[in-house]
Amino acid sequence: MYENYYGLNSKPFQLTPDPSFFFASKWHKRAMSYLQYGLSQAEGFIVITGDIGTGKTTIANSLLNDIQDDIMAAQIVTPKLSPDELVKMVASKFEIDTLNKTKADILKDLEKYLYQLHNNGKRALLIVDEAQNLPLETIEELRMLSNFQEKGKPLLQSFLLGQEELQPILRAPNMEQFRQRIVASCHLAPLTLQECKEYIEYRLHHAGLERDDLFSEGAFEKIFKFTNGVPRRINTLMDRVLLYGFLEEVKTLDDAAIDTVTAEVSEEMFRPEENVSPASNVQSETQINQSENVVMSDVTPDGRVKDVQYYKTMLNELTDALDNAISHKIKLTRYIDNLLKKKYKTYVRLKSDD
Ligand SMILES: Nc1ncnc2c1ncn2[C@@H]1O[C@H](COP(=O)(O)OP(=O)(O)OP(=O)(O)O)[C@@H](O)[C@H]1O
Ligand SMILES: [Mg+2]
Repeated sequence: MYENYYGLNSKPFQLTPDPSFFFASKWHKRAMSYLQYGLSQAEGFIVITGDIGTGKTTIANSLLNDIQDDIMAAQIVTPKLSPDELVKMVASKFEIDTLNKTKADILKDLEKYLYQLHNNGKRALLIVDEAQNLPLETIEELRMLSNFQEKGKPLLQSFLLGQEELQPILRAPNMEQFRQRIVASCHLAPLTLQECKEYIEYRLHHAGLERDDLFSEGAFEKIFKFTNGVPRRINTLMDRVLLYGFLEEVKTLDDAAIDTVTAEVSEEMFRPEENVSPASNVQSETQINQSENVVMSDVTPDGRVKDVQYYKTMLNELTDALDNAISHKIKLTRYIDNLLKKKYKTYVRLKSDD
């Protein structure tokens, strides 16, 4: 509707996760690295949790988008599945006929399929989205499926993505066996103010926007405050902001424009009152200031002032360095993996020439 007005070639803030719009924020990059690390390990479970709308499905879709040819991936989005229903769904995702078959038969066929994949130099990956909906016994069934093995290597690897409620499920005392198979887990946090700005600019430019001055700085702060940096909320709001700019023929969207739109959409979004009342806005403004600007100081028992912000920055740098190290390790593992495959193919060819 408003695309022509802004010179866009597509809608920049669609709600459907689209890998081509993937923005690698710090947490998204880390979650992606964990999934890729998991892939390179070819075993164990990787768990990604995150608040509603923070980008779990987007990450899964981006991973599926550039997955290697030798991995047969299936994605299931789970309603409350029983263990039997899970087995059926996994099998049908791998195109195994389940009609009128008992669970035992389906498991047998699934195992056969996984062995065949393995013999063809391939392997299977299952991405379970909305995993917070799975009952404990169904997660346990998932663990049982990871028991199909060949020479100690599992034939089916699974990634679990879910909202925060997944965490207490996995912490349950009787989930120890499952927990021991988790090789990495990560929690997706919402975007920071800076990332929120970069996210918006990235999506707009990806959709073809050529200007850099459509929004004022104050506008970004308002957007961040209203959405708490949650990408889905940002998308919903931004769609309305762009519509407003088009209808009002506004050239620059400033904080007053954002105020007008947030007042309009607050009602429609059915937001809980505390998120939209002026008092809570003031409160979150203070929170932003605290987390972004104020250098926190603290005093040690012997009276020396210790600079908490300094340690925070140092730890953040350390985390970034570790993230980079993981990324490099993954790249190296992939490279060696490909090299080994090539060598193996050459070896097989030379053998057959003999
Ligand atoms: N890193 C990102 N890059 C680009 N867009 C993103 C990113 N993260 C989230 N989004 C956008 O935010 C919206 C919500 O993302 P998504 O559906 O992946 O969230 P979710 O965590 O799976 O939510 P839910 O908890 O409801 O399942 C989508 O429109 C998606 O395009
Ligand atoms: Mg999702």
